[in-house]
Amino acid sequence: MLDQSIKSLLVCPPQRIARFFFTLTMKENTNTVLLGNHLVLVPYAAKHVPKYHEWMSDADLRDLTASEPLSLEEEYEMQKTWQKDEDKLTFIILSRHPKDGLPILDGHTPGIHISPEDPRVSSLQMVGDVNLFFKGDRLAVAHETTANEDDEFEVEIEIMIAEKRFRRKGFALESLLLLLTYAAGQWSPFVPPDLEGFDSIPSHLPLRPYLNYIREAQSSRSLIKIVTPSRLVSRISDSNEPSIRLFEKLGFRVVKQVEVFHEVEMRWCEAPRSS
Ligand SMILES: CC(C)(COP(=O)(O)OP(=O)(O)OC[C@H]1O[C@@H](n2cnc3c(N)ncnc32)[C@H](O)[C@@H]1OP(=O)(O)O)[C@@H](O)C(=O)NCCC(=O)NCCS
Repeated sequence: MLDQSIKSLLVCPPQRIARFFFTLTMKENTNTVLLGNHLVLVPYAAKHVPKYHEWMSDADLRDLTASEPLSLEEEYEMQKTWQKDEDKLTFIILSRHPKDGLPILDGHTPGIHISPEDPRVSSLQMVGDVNLFFKGDRLAVAHETTANEDDEFEVEIEIMIAEKRFRRKGFALESLLLLLTYAAGQWSPFVPPDLEGFDSIPSHLPLRPYLNYIREAQSSRSLIKIVTPSRLVSRISDSNEPSIRLFEKLGFRVVKQVEVFHEVEMRWCEAPRSS
């Protein structure tokens, strides 16, 4: 299979060759576990589909996430597509607990690698998902050539804490910080001034060492080249106050109202933040 692809490259234009090598590096989250203070991010796999499908049978959640109802079979198909598609980076959020046996990072932790199949990980409860979607001419960005204006590259972020009892505990904020640190190779643009709030949650150590570990040991070269803060965008229903406040906290601002879809577009902005 690979041999055939390489053979076909010999007769390919340079753009296609670039796409081939870029494709090879895009699904690099396949074996990635991002360890956090309260949660762990793992790639969306077939074993997660039944719970995901149960979540998406809730009409309110579908509404909030602009999702279509799917049968279980369609959900499995969708998961397969998401797993392969180079334009998506999808993670499931699992809740940690004090006796999960996973490392607690304190800033002095030597190299760790945790597999998504590790029983300490697979036994954790699913609480939601967090995703990046790459839209537009990624090749132009990766190769620093000028993109067609209609095909400007952007990275759309989506998050859902589906399990209601896990909301308002900092899960969404922490998930987004882990994912953005992994994909953008930095966390400082997104950390709210009141990050110290994480320290006040009993029985958990602060998030900072986890973000540092991801930045230093796990962020991927091909992603950080294209996922820069100014290319991040979130599209949210204009009545979804919790989500708008959440993205504001990470430094995003409403830059556009799309009346026809009752939606706001939020982009990360360098302007100073209040909290
Ligand atoms: C929006 C959502 C992801 C927030 O998840 P969460 O884990 O409860 O959020 P966090 O606890 O991390 O909250 C972080 C910040 O977001 C804001 N926020 C979250 N929920 C809020 C609410 N109900 N009302 C107002 N602000 C809220 C606050 O600024 C909060 O910081 P604070 O607790 O210091 O005030 C969650 O409510 C959800 O999944 N909703 C359904 C799906 C959805 O709307 N997804 C977004 C589509 S892009």
